[in-house]
Amino acid sequence: MSYNKILTKIAAEIAPLRNQGKQADYIPALAKVDPDHFGICITTTSGKSYGWGDIDTPFSIQSVSKVFSLSMALAIMGEELWKRVDKEPSGSAFNSLIQLELDHGIPRNPFINAGAIVVADILLSHLPHPHSDYLKFVRRMADDPTINYNFEVATSERSVGYINAAIANMLKYYGNLENEIEDVLHFYFLMCSVEMTCRQLSHAFLAYAHAKSQFEFGDIRLTSSQVKRINAIMQTCGFYNDAGEYSYLVGLPGKSGVGGGIGAVYPRRYAVATWSPRLNSKGNSVMGMKALELLTTYTNESIF
Ligand code: DON
Repeated sequence: MSYNKILTKIAAEIAPLRNQGKQADYIPALAKVDPDHFGICITTTSGKSYGWGDIDTPFSIQSVSKVFSLSMALAIMGEELWKRVDKEPSGSAFNSLIQLELDHGIPRNPFINAGAIVVADILLSHLPHPHSDYLKFVRRMADDPTINYNFEVATSERSVGYINAAIANMLKYYGNLENEIEDVLHFYFLMCSVEMTCRQLSHAFLAYAHAKSQFEFGDIRLTSSQVKRINAIMQTCGFYNDAGEYSYLVGLPGKSGVGGGIGAVYPRRYAVATWSPRLNSKGNSVMGMKALELLTTYTNESIF
């Protein structure tokens, strides 16, 4: 069966889930998004795209941004990065504060909020122009210069970002933040606020499917071995305390965001992005996860 036919079949099958879950409303600007969108876009390593639904509507990538920021930090720091942040699954909520205290200020992995805040700090310390360098990198990966921050979303999140502020304060207390707390939070929220469409996100994620012999976007270069390791962290940590369930159901390295987006890769074959704002209790898109489960089931293609 062709990808087009499979996507049409999947869309029909997930339709009954359309009212399940709830969009993220702890960020006021995200509460305004129409929750009834669904889109899925596959971009293959041979350059073809297959899509269904709202694949050209921009959405807030939120935690999917953590894959891009990790890529930059790993390119800059190499293995030294792991002195500041661990690479173990957390089994806890993405914004857990208690775990950070138990771990004495070393976040479990770069995809939970605490880990991504440390990564933001590293980028602030090392990039000459962090805000524009990050955006340039994402634009290069997606091959699309129109991608941008949404300053309204970033400001809205800061206005209620009490837990992230608590996490940043605890990191500072343990000596794991070099920059001013407010500067780090501002940059972290900005990175989360980037808006992309499913088409753009699947294009950007191709780099993790080894679409290019080398991962090289401007000054940011990763070896294929480092890309393999980013995929491993997506597989084990990309869905927080839902990572086991996601792995069990889908079997592709992937990363979710509370904007309802998911980026995933089938190494050497394709990258796929889904978007549907209604989330399950762990903060992951209900329809997106189901669509990916059906995709790997119907194509019989997964890493397992
Ligand atoms: O920091 C936050 O809470 C959001 N900016 C990002 C969280 C997120 O996307 C978690 N993903 N499922």
